[in-house]
Amino acid sequence: MAAVAGPGETILIAANAHKAERTFALAAGLDVGIVPVQVDEAWDIEHGVAPEALRASLARYPAAKAAIVVSPTYYGVTSDIAALADICHDHGIPLIVDAAWGGAYPFCEALPGDPLTKGADAAVYSAHKTMGALAQGSIIVAKGNVLDRQRLCMAYELFETTSPSVPILASLDATRRDHALRGEQMWNDVLKLARSARERIGRIAPLRVLGRDDIPAGAEIDETKVLIDISGLGVSGYAIDDWLFAEHRISMGLSDERHILAVISLGTTRSDIRGLERGLADLVARFSADPTLLPRSPGGPSVATLSVDMAISGSEALAGPAEMVRYEDAEGHIAAEMIAPAPPGVPRLVPGQRISAAHVAWLIANRDAGAFIMDPVDPAEATIRVVNGPTK
Ligand SMILES: Cc1ncc(COP(=O)(O)O)c(C=O)c1O
Repeated sequence: MAAVAGPGETILIAANAHKAERTFALAAGLDVGIVPVQVDEAWDIEHGVAPEALRASLARYPAAKAAIVVSPTYYGVTSDIAALADICHDHGIPLIVDAAWGGAYPFCEALPGDPLTKGADAAVYSAHKTMGALAQGSIIVAKGNVLDRQRLCMAYELFETTSPSVPILASLDATRRDHALRGEQMWNDVLKLARSARERIGRIAPLRVLGRDDIPAGAEIDETKVLIDISGLGVSGYAIDDWLFAEHRISMGLSDERHILAVISLGTTRSDIRGLERGLADLVARFSADPTLLPRSPGGPSVATLSVDMAISGSEALAGPAEMVRYEDAEGHIAAEMIAPAPPGVPRLVPGQRISAAHVAWLIANRDAGAFIMDPVDPAEATIRVVNGPTK
């Protein structure tokens, strides 16, 4: 981002971008144009950016310096990167892809296509997420000449730590070598496990597993991410996640109000898959025998109802006078902190955004259901930091 835009310049960011991108835009004083993403209301999840949405955003922000999308999403669904790259290139700007979860894609044919290969100008991969590198090990790659390479290298030098960790670098190199030599085999083995997990879990009614038929046209699915809709049980994913850990020592990759997500990766064994299947079958059997096993979910507004438009610039909201107001009184105020539940780490409010009634309902429902919000200003999660001044 530092390689493509400076203070006061506009950058387009997908509405489901990670906290990482929104935070840098704030720190660097970039103006952000939000590109809406496709929302599947039946599943209550966000997918990628549709080509027509990017086109419309470029018409709205013609001076944008670059577009940033997340592909794949935390749920393992990609955007049509080739189409998005063509649109960006027609405007003479680069497409940057946060491919945090897609590091292994270039190494195995049966995984979705790699963003860089499909035409993106730069991509970032968290090698620690799926490729087995030590935490914080990540890789940035760029190609072509739409993105100024000299500026990219300079930005990298400016922002890189002056004390790089040798163990992290060594683990990056080890996984790079392993993937180059054996990536196809390693990930085909992972996919075999993932497909068997999908099939077995899909048979446990009322659970549903997100599959190829559920994703938008032009998107691909990463089958190693097994997204399970648990809403049929009427219990939140947070409560199920805790129960699975307490009763079966199963640690899910993500839980939220309506889902749990299993991440099948290089370290997953057949016995892990059997354990997951047994745990979920046990949950459903015990829950049908005793519906008080877990508290009923209070339910909350779907992500589709959460508006993303900015009322004022993020830097202005962050640096100006602020006050704390109770969640219940926050409607109409402008947020002066970032609220990002993790995982997936997608901010639902950022400084400068107007807080709607839906945001308030969402905040309360998710707090009460046990969401983990990253570093809220008020650790008790009763109040939120807002811009000091009258509400609209
Ligand atoms: C889509 C996405 N982008 C960026 C990040 C941040 O990556 P890292 O933790 O490697 O800095 C994450 C995960 O934490 C993520 O899921």
